[in-house]
Amino acid sequence: SFGPNIFVESQWIPFKAAIDTHIHKTWSATSVINGNAVNDNTVDGDTHQLDKQAICAPWNHEVIAGEVVYANATIAQQAIAAAVAGQGEWQAVAATKRAAILRKIADLYEENYAELMALCQVEAGKTLQDSIDEIKEAVDFCRFYADEAERLDDVIYEFTDLAGKPSRQVYKARGTFICISPWNFPLAIYTGQVVAALAAGNTVVAKPAEQTSLIAHFGAQLMYQAGVPVEALQLVIGAGDVGAALTAADNIAGVIFTGSTQTAQRINQSLNAHAQVSGELPVFIAETGGQNAMIMDSTALPEQVVRDAVLSAFGSAGQRCSACRILCVQEEMADDLIELLQGNMAELIVGNPLYATTDVGPVIDIDAKRGLEAHIERMRAEPTATILAQTPMSDSSEVSQDQATFVLPTAIEVKSIDVIGGEHFGPILHVLRYEARDLNKLIDAINATGFGLTLGIHSRIENTVEHIERRAFVGNTYINRNQIGAVVNVQPFGGCGLSGTGPKAGGPHYVARLMSLTTEQLAN
Ligand code: NAD
Ligand code: ALA
Repeated sequence: SFGPNIFVESQWIPFKAAIDTHIHKTWSATSVINGNAVNDNTVDGDTHQLDKQAICAPWNHEVIAGEVVYANATIAQQAIAAAVAGQGEWQAVAATKRAAILRKIADLYEENYAELMALCQVEAGKTLQDSIDEIKEAVDFCRFYADEAERLDDVIYEFTDLAGKPSRQVYKARGTFICISPWNFPLAIYTGQVVAALAAGNTVVAKPAEQTSLIAHFGAQLMYQAGVPVEALQLVIGAGDVGAALTAADNIAGVIFTGSTQTAQRINQSLNAHAQVSGELPVFIAETGGQNAMIMDSTALPEQVVRDAVLSAFGSAGQRCSACRILCVQEEMADDLIELLQGNMAELIVGNPLYATTDVGPVIDIDAKRGLEAHIERMRAEPTATILAQTPMSDSSEVSQDQATFVLPTAIEVKSIDVIGGEHFGPILHVLRYEARDLNKLIDAINATGFGLTLGIHSRIENTVEHIERRAFVGNTYINRNQIGAVVNVQPFGGCGLSGTGPKAGGPHYVARLMSLTTEQLAN
């Protein structure tokens, strides 16, 4: 299991009781334009109700989380027009005031932790520990980007021409940003994108993932309550078609996207096609998928490797872009390590995420489950692959047998990285043996996937660690620990190659990238 749970019983009971009062609520979400909920759409004088859908918990479809009203392309256009109209006012707000609003969002998120945790659980199927981490990360983003708004406001580069006339260079807002976020960090990444753009003085049209609209809607209500003007933040609830409409629109200064590499590629094509017609050059920031490896050599501590690999691969049901997908084991250690891995996986508790002891909850939806199980079946049929371990469900109570979206944590030995295919976004770990003399070939094969997000290294030889770090093409490396859970302003996070464009979220270049540098000649 993932080790000691923070919930000692005395603390746990009142905490859980607070969350439980919200678990059985029926939440709702609509788009919000200039502060108004959007339930219908008027075209040529005819008013149509927008599509509405009930959302149920991923582990039991009898648990109803709420009802969501989905926008269409017309609403998307209206949201952009409203944000563009609000830009002048918001960019004139002093950086200290913007920062104060962001800090207030952080306070409100903390005060409303029980509602937010309940939504993480019931809508995204997150375990209690993951729900706590989610809210903490969202709060960290608010406070860090608030600091960044103030820091960048004080950055002034001064110049003088030959005649002694002064100029200066300062950071300014760019305009309206479209923020498109994924379901796997339904509060943290959604909030991080939005507050970074607001910190920069940009207005925002936010389109959260369709699977997690309820928590995004509740988060937006807290942002308005904290003082974000309704003109500065427009919320559009919808699926990929609505996201596509937003990124193909005129008058946007940039797109901040986190999600799959394929969607980022589509958005990039759409922005390029639009630029051909409009001449506009929006900024595009994409943070995407990974095919992340952990490399261990014969000096590593096997128990520690296994503990860190299991957490990195199966924590959050493997639904982290940073998750370990390939554990690379030096041949001399492989048999013992695989035995330890099998033992550790047998201890995992897979089941209802509402239970405090659960390590691995459900995956997000039935499509995700089918895709992951298809990969496991393909590997089962693959002559060069071997299923090493598969953890059964621990407790099926309150889990609907036919509809629950659990995927059993699975370890598969493979003979090459190529056989894995692309990113499989769930609790599946591949194990690859390598010979010590082939370390460079291994690193090159990892690089050849084209992804470059996280890399775990387990070795007690400093030279080996440094050598791997120098040769590998990745965004974040972790030594002798797990490779998930980057902390804001501690491990700025983001990949290269197919894993993203940078700048790193939670680092000193992120808000700056959302601003432009203006060189102003001074009057005297
Ligand atoms: P996804 O690409 O399917 O969806 C992400 C968002 O894009 C959603 O809001 C979706 O509605 C929207 N979208 C879909 N098609 C679109 C289009 N054509 N135009 C505009 N928007 C569109 O990804 P997902 O399944 O929500 O998230 C999982 C993926 O996200 C994984 O690949 C994971 O690795 C990646 N991810 C990356 C990071 C990172 O920081 N690098 C973090 C979290 C998740
Ligand atoms: N930032 C998240 C992590 O590091 C994706 O796991």
